[in-house]
Amino acid sequence: MLTATASKELPLSFRLTEDQLLIQETIAEIAQKEFAPRAAEIDKNHRFPRENWEMLAASEVCGLPFPEEYGGAGLDHVSYAIVVEELAKNCATTSVMYSAHVSLCASPIYLMGTEEQRKRFLPPMCSGEKMGAFALSEPGTGSDSAAATCMAELKGDHFILNGSKNWITNGVEADYYLVIAQTDRALRHKGLVALVVEKGAPGFTFGKLEDKLGIKGSSTCQIMFEDTPVPIENMLGKVGEGFKVAMMTLDGGRIGIASQAVGIAQGAWDHAYRYAKEREAFGKTINKLQAIRFMFSEMQTEIDAARLLTYHASLAQDRGEKFTRAAAHAKLYASEVAMRSTVKCVQIFGGYGYVTDYPAERYMRDAKITEIYEGTSEIQRLVISNSLLKDQ
Ligand code: CAA
Repeated sequence: MLTATASKELPLSFRLTEDQLLIQETIAEIAQKEFAPRAAEIDKNHRFPRENWEMLAASEVCGLPFPEEYGGAGLDHVSYAIVVEELAKNCATTSVMYSAHVSLCASPIYLMGTEEQRKRFLPPMCSGEKMGAFALSEPGTGSDSAAATCMAELKGDHFILNGSKNWITNGVEADYYLVIAQTDRALRHKGLVALVVEKGAPGFTFGKLEDKLGIKGSSTCQIMFEDTPVPIENMLGKVGEGFKVAMMTLDGGRIGIASQAVGIAQGAWDHAYRYAKEREAFGKTINKLQAIRFMFSEMQTEIDAARLLTYHASLAQDRGEKFTRAAAHAKLYASEVAMRSTVKCVQIFGGYGYVTDYPAERYMRDAKITEIYEGTSEIQRLVISNSLLKDQ
């Protein structure tokens, strides 16, 4: 029998507020004018676009969902999803630089930090003076976060960190790294601790920049710790609460990636449609061919559905409800839509979709990571089924 759970959770109507429309317009303008024109060059040269970060800082969105008393803009998470989408439509690298900072570092500090920690870390992060990163995965552990082996040993008033973390977004560029480390391997998830590690800490070094398939401008690298002291005042929550911090962080982060996926899919659609209105075949522009029109129709149906799932998760977050499953639904669906849509867009461009003269292939490469990071599609299915099917 179907339960009423699903229908109760659906928003019956949804309209963006004046404030949300304003932030959408503002960020769309900056992203189209400033970020889109250099996206291909950033991709080609694997260049971290620091100037884009500075523009986001000048636009006062680096602390968008945090209260004004910590330097934030005090806006809601739907606005945050909108900003990430507008960035991803134009430059996926910039969207992940931004979402890793907000969702994966500043958010957990806000949610789990003491008043002293919020006041110390958040104002420079909200102004964009400091950039955040998140360090959970390791060379040997990805989906199984509880198997972390990077050790944090408490000695006096410092933890001593030893080990390495992998796939760090904003890698060498960040200032604050939220590191999930292990205090006792036998305890698995109950032994983890969340520490804010500052760049420049002794024994904290960086591995080589990864040569990735997509989001090539985002700085991704391994980070290493050798007897790195981290003051106990930099611990979020208590020893043993690191897993909870990581999972809560990822709940929010997954909405960010869903928004990124929606943006990539919509951006690719927009490019393909512009192309289809100019390209001629069989005596007409190809946007008049039914085969192509059906592709646009299918893609937009899925993109709209993905966006609604994303807003639905953001609304639940804003209402203070548990949104773990809603975020997993949004990330799972939106990332797979991004992949399907960008493959179709390459198809619409034909041979021109396969070369770098047009952006279609870049969107397809950028889309793939949304099915992998912040929990693979398989992990999202696991999170959904664990929450939905109470039969274990
Ligand atoms: N919020 C709060 N607590 C949570 C939670 C959540 N969303 N999910 C689980 N927990 C709690 C559980 O209640 C449980 O608590 P108790 O011990 O008190 O009972 C505890 O955490 C353990 O839960 P599980 O038994 O469900 O844990 P598990 O070991 O089976 O793992 C998992 C669950 C879903 C597989 C989890 O490990 C997971 O999400 N893995 C994927 C990790 C991931 O997404 N990695 C991406 C890295 S980040 C990145 O991509 C880098 C970047 O910079 C972009």
